[in-house]
This record gives sequence, C-alpha cells and structure tokens, in this order.
Amino acid sequence: MIELRNITKTFGDTVANDDVSIKIEKGTIHAIVGENGAGKSTIMRIAYGFYTSDAGEILVDGERVNIRNPHDAIALGIGMVHQHFMLVDTMTVAENIILGAETGGAASLDLDKANEEILALSNHLRLGVNPRAFVEELSVGAQQRVELLKALYRNARLLILDEPTAVLTPQETVDFFNILRRMREQGKTIVIITHKLEEVLAISDDVTVMRDGKVVGNVKTSETTTKDLARMIVGRDVLLRVEKTNAIPGETVLNVQNLVVKNAHGEAVDRVSFQVRAGEIVGIAGIEGNGQTELIEAVAGLTPPSNLSGSVEFFGEDITDLSARKRKELGIAHIPEDRHRRGLLLDSDLEENTILGVHYRPPVASGGFLNAGTIEARTKEIIRNFDVRPPNPQLNARALSGGNQQKLIIGREFELNPKLLLVSQPTRGVDIGAIEFIHRKLIALRDQGTAVLLVSAELEEVTALADRLLVVSKGKIVGEVDPKTTSNEEIGLMMTGGS
Ligand SMILES: Nc1ncnc2c1ncn2[C@@H]1O[C@H](COP(=O)(O)OP(=O)(O)OP(=O)(O)O)[C@@H](O)[C@H]1O
Ligand SMILES: [Mg+2]
Repeated sequence: MIELRNITKTFGDTVANDDVSIKIEKGTIHAIVGENGAGKSTIMRIAYGFYTSDAGEILVDGERVNIRNPHDAIALGIGMVHQHFMLVDTMTVAENIILGAETGGAASLDLDKANEEILALSNHLRLGVNPRAFVEELSVGAQQRVELLKALYRNARLLILDEPTAVLTPQETVDFFNILRRMREQGKTIVIITHKLEEVLAISDDVTVMRDGKVVGNVKTSETTTKDLARMIVGRDVLLRVEKTNAIPGETVLNVQNLVVKNAHGEAVDRVSFQVRAGEIVGIAGIEGNGQTELIEAVAGLTPPSNLSGSVEFFGEDITDLSARKRKELGIAHIPEDRHRRGLLLDSDLEENTILGVHYRPPVASGGFLNAGTIEARTKEIIRNFDVRPPNPQLNARALSGGNQQKLIIGREFELNPKLLLVSQPTRGVDIGAIEFIHRKLIALRDQGTAVLLVSAELEEVTALADRLLVVSKGKIVGEVDPKTTSNEEIGLMMTGGS
C-alpha cells in the first residue's frame, strides 16, 4: 500500500528519522514501536504530509508520489489520527469533521446532511458518537473516536493511528480493536503506533521497531513475544512488573469528607470520603469518566467553589476554600491527565515550563525578577533526573515527543518535594523503559513519606502501584480492596457496577 524509502528528517540538531525504510502491505495492520523520541510520529507525519522529509521517497500502490501536505495525503487516501487530538473544543463533532474536508462545493457545508452521514458512519462502526455534541463535552475516549470518524469521512484507505489506545479503557480497547479488524476485512490498511506490547501482539500482522531515529527491527507478529519486543525497543532486558515493599503509612495527610463535585451533567463526584496517609499510595480504579478527573481537580484546587460541597483537609487543616496556588505552596503537587491542556505551555521553552506554579516565588523569583541561573540549573536537573530527551532547556515543549513531555511534567512536580502528590495517568504514552523508571520514582517518593493519590485507567498499573485501592463507579466509591489479594476480574466487576 505504501512504502517509505530512505527517509531522513532533522529538526535543528535532532535527527528524528535517519534513513528510515518501511513497507506497509495492503490490508494489514502494521504496528510501529519504539522508545519515546525514537521517531515514530515523525515518520508517519511525513507519510501524512504533515512534515516533509529532507531526503527519501514515498511510494503509494507502487507509484512514486509527492506528498507536500495533508491535502495531498488525503487525496491519496491516507488519513491520520494524531497522538494529541487536533479538535476545536467549541465546535460540534460534525463541524469538526467537515472542517477542511475536501468534499468540495456547497455539500460540505450542509450541516444537516453531514450530521446524518456522520451518525450513519458512527453507527456502522458502533462508535457511539453524537455528531451534534460539542467536543468540549466529550470524554477523551469519545474525542478519539471523533478523530477516527474524521479520517473515515474523508475516505481514508490507509489509516495511521498514533497511540490511539493510550486514552482508551481496557473495554474500549477491545471494542476499538474489533473496529480495526472489521476495517481490515474491508480492505483498509492500518498503521498503529503504540507502547503497549500486548496490544501489538493482539492486533498487528507485522511490527517495525525504531530506536534513535532508525529502524532496528522488522518482524512478523506471529513470530515474536513481548519480551523480545521489549529487548529490541530498549536494547536491554526490561522489568515488566513493579517491585515494591509493603507501605508503612504515617499520619493522615489528606482527608476528604462528603465531597460532591458538580459539572454540566450533574454530580460527577457524589459524596466521596476517604483518607490518604503519608507513605502510602492510594489508587483509584474505575472506568474513565466516572468522576476521577473531577475528584483530583477538586483536591488540587482547580474546581470553582460554587461547584463543590463537602470538605478537603490537609494535615487536619481545612483547605476547601484555598486556591490551587495556596495548595501548591502547602506541598500539594499535581500531575494532570491531560498534559497539553493542564500540564504544559506548548509554545514556551522547557525552562518556562519547569517553573510553572513556582514562577513568582523564591528561589525561582526574587524582588520581582526571575533568577535566570536558578531556573537554568533547575531545568537541567529535571532533564537529567528524568531523562528528558533531547536535553535542551531552550526547546519549546511542543518539540518534545509525547513521552518526554510527560517526563518533564513529572520531574517538575517531583521537584516540589510534595507532601501530597495527585497523579493522573502517569505513564500514558510513555515507553516501557520510562514506565519502569516512573514507577520506581513514584515508589521512591512514597518511601520518602509522601502521600500519593493515583488515578490510572490502566488497571494493571493501579493494582501494581497502589497499597490500597478505592474502586469508583458513577462518582461514588463502591468499595475499597487490597490490590494484593483481589483479582482484576473482581475489581473490573466492581468498576462496572457489579457487586
Ligand atoms: N516539531 C519538532 N521540532 C523539533 N524537534 C522535534 C519536532 N518533532 C519531533 N522532534 C524531535 O524528533 C525526535 C522524534 O520525535 P517523535 O515525536 O517522532 O518521537 P516518537 O517516537 O513519536 O516518541 P513518543 O513515543 O514519545 O511519541 C524527538 O527527539 C523529538 O524531540
Ligand atoms: Mg509519538
């Protein structure tokens, strides 16, 4: 279907793709794996015309083609769902989908017709997307399905999916893979970039492994294992499970009582009470969209007081009415789930990003001035401790690969030496080597006495890290379990409202 030949692409000093050749067979699902920054997104963005290569050529159906921009790619039947969505929040699903669609003429502006067509397409693939909904009201999972619809609406024959399942729940992933299989049966070709090796084995026919901008392996999925893939990706053996000792919990750091958080749809968090003590990791397991985000944001101080009731205590002191800034000053750090919306200023450099939240106070600022030396040193330390690549403090955050952006945020929040860490989806989009690293860091922080409240859509992750696990469903805590003695099946049943 498509062949990329000898593609090279540099950004400044960074060689993102170094003589990369990949062949994708028609009607197959082809996985691309590799560490954060290996060049996966870049090579596929070149195929989609989002970037142009410095050297090399592209063949579609055996013919050499010139893909200068996404319009050229779309005309050739190539569609892409980016790692970070590119939807306009304040527009409806249908408006987003027809935005820039090359169907031409007045027809593309007929919103009623588009609504119908999109609904039909959504129903056909059982995507459950309402074309009239506003994007800002949708869960991340639903936004992802909108992106998929957008490509299909433009008649894509080749669908490039950049980490599509990073934002899906386990059940959504199963459904999503069934959609992909149906699409393959219909003759579509799919490229999927993912860090989840079980998924590679479950869904793909072929795998390409990249490292440092180069292709380092090409295997048939049926002839490989997660262990082999992990070794090819990282270049060493990787520990695919978490090692930790039992927690030794100290005093109560966070005490949440009868917390209710309202959003546009009602009570997202419904009379929730729990405590987190020093030196323990309390996990929250639940299907995404069951109040986890609202709960964490309420504790972080990001929710308008008018949308809240109940109380939040920090070391016995009522902080329910304190601003996010005041809470941060007390020692509450927050690693948000949506790193682009909440975690970073994409068009600011790494130095500016590493001082967010502390930019107004010593040691970062004094007498109304920023201390350039301190900021530089701080940024370099975070880059070093968290292995942010490339290690250049002057780069804009946008220039970092997804996983490296995440490492930067984690580094910034750890730098606060928090007494309480609120952390959502810490390893979303992070490569297997870095997952191992982040898990170790979280456990080390716990062992230093920090209280950690962890939300993760990855049941495996939350059960492996948490010392105690609260299961949530529809905004309520439906049970507390010991992750060591409770099976994932039992937890899954509780998450879906079973007993
Ligand atoms: N627009 C850009 N400007 C500057 N550097 C960039 C840009 N896009 C990518 N890079 C750099 O190119 C390299 C490859 O990045 P790429 O996004 O392709 O990695 P990736 O394999 O997709 O990683 P991840 O798994 O973290 O998403 C990285 O070093 C990255 O920092
Ligand atoms: Mg990427």
